[in-house]
Amino acid sequence: MGRGFDLEARLQSREERGLRRELAPVDRIGPTARRVPDPGADVPAFDANAEGLLVFATNDYLGLAGDDRLAEAAARIAHEFSTGAGASRLVVGDTFVHRDLEHALAKSKETKRALVFSSGYAANIGTITALAPDVVFSDELNHASIIDGCRLSDAEIKVYDHCSATDLRAAMDRRACESDEEESWLVVTDSVFSMDGDIAPLSTICSAAEHYGAWMMVDEAHATGVYDGGVVGQLGLEDRVHIQLGTLSKALGSQGGFVAGNETLIEYIANTARSFVFSTGLAPPAAGAAQEALRIAQMTDRPRTLQDRADHLRSGLKDLGFEVLGETHILPVLIGDRENAVALDEALRDRGVLAPAIRPPTVPEGMSRLRVAPTATHTSEQLDRCLDAFEAAGEEVGLR
Ligand SMILES: Cc1ncc(COP(=O)(O)O)c(C=O)c1O
Repeated sequence: MGRGFDLEARLQSREERGLRRELAPVDRIGPTARRVPDPGADVPAFDANAEGLLVFATNDYLGLAGDDRLAEAAARIAHEFSTGAGASRLVVGDTFVHRDLEHALAKSKETKRALVFSSGYAANIGTITALAPDVVFSDELNHASIIDGCRLSDAEIKVYDHCSATDLRAAMDRRACESDEEESWLVVTDSVFSMDGDIAPLSTICSAAEHYGAWMMVDEAHATGVYDGGVVGQLGLEDRVHIQLGTLSKALGSQGGFVAGNETLIEYIANTARSFVFSTGLAPPAAGAAQEALRIAQMTDRPRTLQDRADHLRSGLKDLGFEVLGETHILPVLIGDRENAVALDEALRDRGVLAPAIRPPTVPEGMSRLRVAPTATHTSEQLDRCLDAFEAAGEEVGLR
């Protein structure tokens, strides 16, 4: 017996609890891809003759990750500047490319400034810990990076019912009665929830926060690029939301995260967010690609095309008798039982469609689902193949 770590036993335990995950490389990021089982330390080998799967599993909602214009922007920046920032932004990693992107992001968010991080995860943990709130009121389905930020910040965490401004108000009421001292309060929510495909009622949540003088933070990871200015922008809430957060890694087809707000907020975050201060600046080619993606999202009808694709798939799945949750471009097909969800996932793969089963603990027991995420670059014919596969797979598994 040493003082080390029995990782084999830990992995085995995860396996037994159905929590073991496996990497499976793909040959490209796009509407179709070939996928091979985890090759371990070996380089993956793709069979050139194998037919690719239809992929409904990425967050590359606008289909920009494989776009030539982004690749050209990234290559140009790599040649003109560098492939990496070389240092923290606060040392010598702060380039014109970062500033240009931050300017464009702030403009799209109608804020004074924005600050880019190396990921959305880093943006969330950095921002929340830097604010160091006394109390955080957090939606029960908020993303893991928000939860981790709250935990790391040492704040008292009050979780309110999903999308319930009523429960939020009740939680704030209770806290206000419990504590007589002046505390700093932060309310934080995703705008679009990635596993439920629904949208937080931001106006009523803002009203609750305002009633108690709390600050409001909204994570727009799944709305950035999909809705101009995010959900906050669509609802005209820029002046009521203190902190707008987003990612460059999903609809913008690149890598990185950002926070947007007023001058003082950004200056403070740049000085104190440890995931910004003690981390190399975002790679300039990723910043260049994201800026090009933002331009495409704003200047073309890609977001509209995505909504059309999602509407087509949503109504087709409903016509087949499936229950589809939410109201956005993310389509969670509710199955309920975890085994049935896994069986449907496998039956779809056998028919060339990748739409992964989402099981507990990611979602509550009895709420297993398949997360179907179309992209703007799926063709109508591919959407119809997806629906045909759902019809046949559903019958095979006994869900129709
Ligand atoms: C709501 C939300 N916030 C933040 C993140 C993290 O963003 P990134 O992938 O850029 O680290 C994610 C990623 O899944 C997310 O869903």
